[in-house]
Amino acid sequence: MNKINIAIDGAAATGKSTLAKRLAKALDYIYIDTGAMFRAITFFGLEQHPKGEINVPLLVASLSEISIHFEETPSGQRTFLNGVDVTQALRNPEINAKVSAVAVLPEIRSFLLDIQQQLGEDKGVVMDGRDIGTVVFPKAECKFFLTASPEIRARRRFNEQLADGIDESYEAVLQNVKARDHQDSTRAIAPLTKAVDALEIDVSDLSIEAVFQVMTHHISEKGWTKQ
Ligand code: DC
Repeated sequence: MNKINIAIDGAAATGKSTLAKRLAKALDYIYIDTGAMFRAITFFGLEQHPKGEINVPLLVASLSEISIHFEETPSGQRTFLNGVDVTQALRNPEINAKVSAVAVLPEIRSFLLDIQQQLGEDKGVVMDGRDIGTVVFPKAECKFFLTASPEIRARRRFNEQLADGIDESYEAVLQNVKARDHQDSTRAIAPLTKAVDALEIDVSDLSIEAVFQVMTHHISEKGWTKQ
């Protein structure tokens, strides 16, 4: 049987990337973190204008200078911006605070859309984001949409950041999660919405393992098996 594309969408901190990585590993597929792509562009914009602000016209005019790629390493997948490993920097609160404003820009969405669609051309991709099942791969053979309350997601993100040595209060994380939910789901282009044919999973009371089981069950129910 041929390979398929798997789309995983949902709000921030629903466990999308952990699950997408696990699925990709289990199926021997390529994992693509589209949030990291928007974060890398935000990072580039902040470096361009080092006053904590992004100069949008300058950033848009510089898109042709940006190249993003992923590499698999023993410590997991790393994100490279113009050849430099920026994986860790992309998780900073400063990026969290600015990335949704960058993700509303049509020029940036269209720049990344081309790259994302090319990456999925040969199938065998697990891609996570906000608009994968609706815009990037509307014909993906298998789609998931993950949900959970903002409080549960903020608690998860807070614990992850603590483990990474990032010092931000739970209240600040919760505020950021809610602000990003609002921006991501109300923007005009490619807002966070469930594709009609996506399987919605409320992960609030489920472990990562339990969600993984639901996903693999759904994939095999649809008749897709590992190549
Ligand atoms: O998944 P994440 O938290 O790394 O995503 C960072 C931001 O990028 C998020 O606030 C919304 C945006 N994003 C998007 O608009 N479309 C995607 N496909 C992925 C992320």
